[in-house]
Amino acid sequence: MNAFSGLDELEKSALLEIENSHELSELEAIRIRLLGKKGELTAALRGMKDIPEQDRPVFGRRVNEIRDRITAALESKISELMRAEKEARLIAEKVDITLPGKKQPIGGLHPLTRIYYEIRDIFVSMGFDVMDGPEVEYDKYNFEMLNIPTDHPARDTQDTVYISDDIVLRTHTSPVQIRTMLAQKPPIRMICPGRVYRSDDVDATHSPIFNQIEGLVVDRGISFANLKDTLNVFLKEFYGEDTVTKFRPGHFPFTEPSAEVDATCSKCRGRGCPACKGAGMIEVLGCGMVHPQVLRNCGIDPDEYSGFAFGMGLDRLANIKYGITDIRLLFENDIRFLAQFR
Ligand code: DAH
Repeated sequence: MNAFSGLDELEKSALLEIENSHELSELEAIRIRLLGKKGELTAALRGMKDIPEQDRPVFGRRVNEIRDRITAALESKISELMRAEKEARLIAEKVDITLPGKKQPIGGLHPLTRIYYEIRDIFVSMGFDVMDGPEVEYDKYNFEMLNIPTDHPARDTQDTVYISDDIVLRTHTSPVQIRTMLAQKPPIRMICPGRVYRSDDVDATHSPIFNQIEGLVVDRGISFANLKDTLNVFLKEFYGEDTVTKFRPGHFPFTEPSAEVDATCSKCRGRGCPACKGAGMIEVLGCGMVHPQVLRNCGIDPDEYSGFAFGMGLDRLANIKYGITDIRLLFENDIRFLAQFR
């Protein structure tokens, strides 16, 4: 009965080996080694020819029984391992939904950007286009064609940064008026925001780089009444319906007549406070009717067309609106300052 005890031995060691296995790949190897076409059990079956004929049915049944037991043992071990693996994965991937979420900080718009968007939206709603111009500008456009010839005193007040004899860092956004009038025929209705440069020392109210918004309207029959009305609509929209404006005579070489405009102090609403130095009004922009010579310089006939222009300091408007007393805060980008405008 050597062949039978060989089967017993095979069964015992196979079941033990399966029981002690901890890897699915290992179990697969065992399956192939025992039950495969060239496997040990198949080999044992082949040995049947050496067994006396009357014992063969019993031997055959015993082989089948062992195959069933091994198969069952493999299956149960496989499902046991898979279950353990799944449990381990569930534990590893467990999410504690009671933990507070991670905060994603959301940025905000810079106060200057906010102010610009507000102003832009008001003028765009009145039919203005938004133009752009270079910060490195020809002297010709920054001064000459705006009626500010070489020896004009207005040049001194502008503290110009020269790149070369005829190229400057623009000292205001007014050269974009010239560029616009050279590039397109009236009717023109545009605003132009942008950075401007003056060789100022930095202090609470001065910065060598600041921001302006320019405006220009040119068409047939444009009058000072149109200028006044447009700016009144804008200032009431921007500062509030109860805003009062005052147009004072002013002087700019590129406009005639020129005016400086005061508006109700947005801080004290006219009662008088440190921001408006007790006046209740605060200067907000310069403006005027485009000088006929400026129109002529750009190939526009002043007998046929007229226009008005205005310019304002964006930083100043932001400071007034938000009660900021030091212009440097607008440029230092201290996050503790900026975060207040979200
Ligand atoms: N360019 C002037 C400045 O920088 C501002 C200004 C005043 C612009 C009157 C204008 C204007 O277009 O009409 O001080």
